[in-house]
Amino acid sequence: MLRIAYFEGLDSAEAERIARKCIWRRVDEHELVVDYDDRSTDVYFIVSGDLRVLIRTPAGKEVILCDLHPGQIFGEMAAIDGAERSANVSALTKSELCIMPSSVFKNVLFSQPAVCEKVLRLLTKRIRDLNARLFERSVLDLRHRLYAELLRLALPRKGHEGQSIISPPPLQHDLAARIGCRREQVNREVQAMIHEGLAEKIRGGLVLLRPATLEQRLTACLEQAG
Ligand code: CMP
Repeated sequence: MLRIAYFEGLDSAEAERIARKCIWRRVDEHELVVDYDDRSTDVYFIVSGDLRVLIRTPAGKEVILCDLHPGQIFGEMAAIDGAERSANVSALTKSELCIMPSSVFKNVLFSQPAVCEKVLRLLTKRIRDLNARLFERSVLDLRHRLYAELLRLALPRKGHEGQSIISPPPLQHDLAARIGCRREQVNREVQAMIHEGLAEKIRGGLVLLRPATLEQRLTACLEQAG
C-alpha cells in the first residue's frame, strides 16, 4: 500500500502498480541516506521519521538547508536532471523511507498532473525559502538573522498567550549552521536575549517570551537596510 501524501487521489490500482516498483527501507538515527556528489538517482518518500539536508565543506563546516518530515520527499533533483546529488541527507531519527527509481518517478510526473503539480509546488517553495535566506544573509546582521531563524522554528506555546517555543531546544551548533556563523556567536546572542527577557531556557525547549518584539526589531532592521 502506498501510504504517501504525494499519491493521494491516484486510483488504487495505479497506486498499487507504483508501489510494486518501490522498495521500503528503515534507516537508523545519524545514518547517511544520500551523499553529496553521489551518482544515485532514486527518489525518497518519508513514511516516518525526520531527516536533515545539509552541505558540509571538506573542512567539516556545515550549512543546514532544511529538516524534512513524514510526507515530504527528497532526491528528486538528481532524479529530474541526472546530475550529482546537491546535498547530504541523513536521518535525525529512526526513519522509514519508500524509495522510487527515477524512471518510475518521471513516468508518474509525466502521466499524473496532480502529482506533477505537488512536485512543482515543492520546488517553487524551495526557491522562495532560499530567496528569503539569501536576502537575510545579504542585508541582516547576525543578531537579526538569528531572530528570523528562531521565529521560523518556533510554534505558539500552549497555555502562554503571546509566547512561542522551540521544542526540543535547538542546538547552538545547528543554529550556527542554519544562519552562517560560529556557535560561540549564537551563544552570545542567546545569552543577550535571555538577559533582555526575550528568551528563556526551560526543560524541553527554548521559549521566545516576546516574539512580537523580535518581529518588530526584524521589521525595523529590514526597513533600515540600505
Ligand atoms: P538531490 O540533489 O537528488 O539529493 C539531495 C537532496 O536534498 C535534493 O535532491 C533535494 O531533495 C534536497 N535538497 C537540496 N537542496 C535543498 C534545499 N535547499 N532545501 C530543501 N531540500 C534540498
